[in-house]
Amino acid sequence: MSDRYKLRSYLPKDKQSVHQMIIEEFGHDYLDRSVWKFRKSKPIEKLGLIVSDTFHLHHEEIVASLQYWPIKIAEYKSLLLGPLVVRDHLKGKGIGSLLITSSLKMIKNSGWNFCLVSGEPDYYPKFGFKPVPNNLDWPSPIERQRLQFINLRSLDLEKLSDHTLPVLSDID
Ligand SMILES: CC(C)(COP(=O)(O)OP(=O)(O)OC[C@H]1O[C@@H](n2cnc3c(N)ncnc32)[C@H](O)[C@@H]1OP(=O)(O)O)[C@@H](O)C(=O)NCCC(=O)NCCS
Repeated sequence: MSDRYKLRSYLPKDKQSVHQMIIEEFGHDYLDRSVWKFRKSKPIEKLGLIVSDTFHLHHEEIVASLQYWPIKIAEYKSLLLGPLVVRDHLKGKGIGSLLITSSLKMIKNSGWNFCLVSGEPDYYPKFGFKPVPNNLDWPSPIERQRLQFINLRSLDLEKLSDHTLPVLSDID
């Protein structure tokens, strides 16, 4: 990634630009997607990451963003990764990978149990994500192979129990 692109933490002033990128990538009806049923409160500000284009001295342009939302898997405090968005003209240059690997360093062993993502089945395994176990209950329509997870501390989602593990928003 060229030096003109900078990775930094999300700031409240980025809200509108990030929202605009999400609309451009996923469309105005993005909230209808299954995954948004679990994003009821707010993304976790301190886990948000931004890549900005600093080419224009007085106008920083946001070109990629990653957010995390708090959820619960049964009683276990967990994270939902996304949205992850990279501007079209910068796709395929490693920016998405940089955002994921940098954020995984922040969230591993920081008190959260598991991280879920609804994303491309071919994209996330290289970061350690695996298909969710059959007893995970995602109570909303989804292509099941999109659902992937990573353990963030000592608990292993696959070994938790034979009982159903419902996914809930943090305020359900
Ligand atoms: C998915 C996305 C975030 C990837 O970001 P990116 O910066 O283009 O990805 P990278 O450059 O880091 O990709 C690195 C690798 O992943 C592969 N890859 C990229 N997009 C992929 C996809 N959709 N499916 C499978 N593999 C993908 C690349 O080919 C590359 O492979 P390589 O390392 O073997 O060369 C980006 O394409 C995007 O914004 N997509 C639309 C929004 C979206 O689907 N977000 C994810 C769900 S929240």
